[in-house]
Amino acid sequence: MTTAILSALPEEQQGLLERLQHVRAQRRAGRDFWLGELHGQPVVLALSRIGKVAAATTATTLIEALGVQRVVFTGVAGGLGPGVQVGDVVVAQEFVQHDMDASPIFPRYQIPLYGRERFACDPQLAQALLAATQRGLQRLGLDAAVHHGLVASGDRFVSAAQEARALRAALQEAGHAPLAVEMEGAAVAQVCHDYGIPFAAMRTISDRADDTAHVDFPKFVSEVASRYALAILDEFVRELK
Ligand code: ADE
Repeated sequence: MTTAILSALPEEQQGLLERLQHVRAQRRAGRDFWLGELHGQPVVLALSRIGKVAAATTATTLIEALGVQRVVFTGVAGGLGPGVQVGDVVVAQEFVQHDMDASPIFPRYQIPLYGRERFACDPQLAQALLAATQRGLQRLGLDAAVHHGLVASGDRFVSAAQEARALRAALQEAGHAPLAVEMEGAAVAQVCHDYGIPFAAMRTISDRADDTAHVDFPKFVSEVASRYALAILDEFVRELK
């Protein structure tokens, strides 16, 4: 069973790419896909690119053209939930699109014609990723908090405390309590739902989606998130069956 490992950023992919065995490259839809083995498991490494549409194209290509049978995502996110701090990890349970609004035709946040507002991750795959996250952090000698719950995605880098508060309050009013915000997960979750492919995702918290988010972000990605992604995904693939 081939597993896609989708990274949001090249820095997160680099370590895995260096460990990939029997490497073959394919170019599709203007994207590079790296096929090979990690710990004897067939994998395809790819970059999601940024934003919901780009990530959906990458996910669709992985499934349709490369035949992957499960998808795991690593990336960074802004912390939204109380107690979700920089350096913590969020393993997604479900996704909501915070910028989906076809009201008054459909209720706010509902994905038109799906009759739902959230897409769930595969419970077994998410549990495996959660366990790998704990082991990966232990291996790095870190006791960062690990959260498991709802992640909100949308085509905005949230970089103002006021905006983060408003986004969270509006979601909360509709019954959604997001732990973190990013720009791709809900799109990949929806594509995987369409194809009946198991999906799981982890996000390292790089900022608090506030006025300093744009400052924290690049430094964090290059110095911290890449190490987290490598340690966690290495642990995850090691236990894949
Ligand atoms: N990814 C990391 N931080 C983010 C933020 N503040 N908003 C959206 N996506 C992010």
